[in-house]
Amino acid sequence: MIFARTTSPEETKELAAALAELARPGDLMLLAGDLGAGKTAFTQGFGAALGIDDLITSPTFTLVNTYEGRLELNHLDVYRLEALGEVLDLGVAEMLDDGGVTVIEWGDSVAPVLPADYLEIRFSFDEVAISLDQTGAADDVRVLELVPVGARWSARIRAVATAVSPWIHEPDGDD
Ligand SMILES: Nc1ncnc2c1ncn2[C@@H]1O[C@H](COP(=O)(O)OP(=O)(O)O)[C@@H](O)[C@H]1O
Ligand SMILES: [Mg+2]
Repeated sequence: MIFARTTSPEETKELAAALAELARPGDLMLLAGDLGAGKTAFTQGFGAALGIDDLITSPTFTLVNTYEGRLELNHLDVYRLEALGEVLDLGVAEMLDDGGVTVIEWGDSVAPVLPADYLEIRFSFDEVAISLDQTGAADDVRVLELVPVGARWSARIRAVATAVSPWIHEPDGDD
């Protein structure tokens, strides 16, 4: 697993753009983390790097938005799903077969019904920094944990580490 740290929404978008360079048809990425953690910001940077000009917003009510870029991007937000089976009704399997890239916000919650072949990115706030910092700067820090599940992303994990190297940050590191 890889830990990264960003200090602004722009940096999260840049990290996402770097990862988008590695994207292949059929890829699945699950974004985990609380409201405001940066899942949509990430998707915006990811989509921009795929050549998508549209404004990417959380598809909270529509559940799925599809955008045309260098690769098609299927953007899902399953926060409102009440039953696991509902994600299957959205046609995720078909999306993956269609040659696009699929990004699912709150995707960790539906992982049991998805193919076990994805990159999970867990977003969190840096609670320790926030508690120590009086200036408010720590509010814009996000920790991203990148976890490959299955062969598709495990085989690419070195490339992932290289892509996000400007932001790599081991939680117990010195700096
Ligand atoms: N390092 C950062 N990465 C991403 N977003 C950040 C960061 N610092 C501050 N923010 C702010 O946090 C919020 C993230 O919102 P959003 O991406 O919609 O989160 P989510 O989709 O996880 O609910 C935005 O208001 C963004 O400006
Ligand atoms: Mg969101």
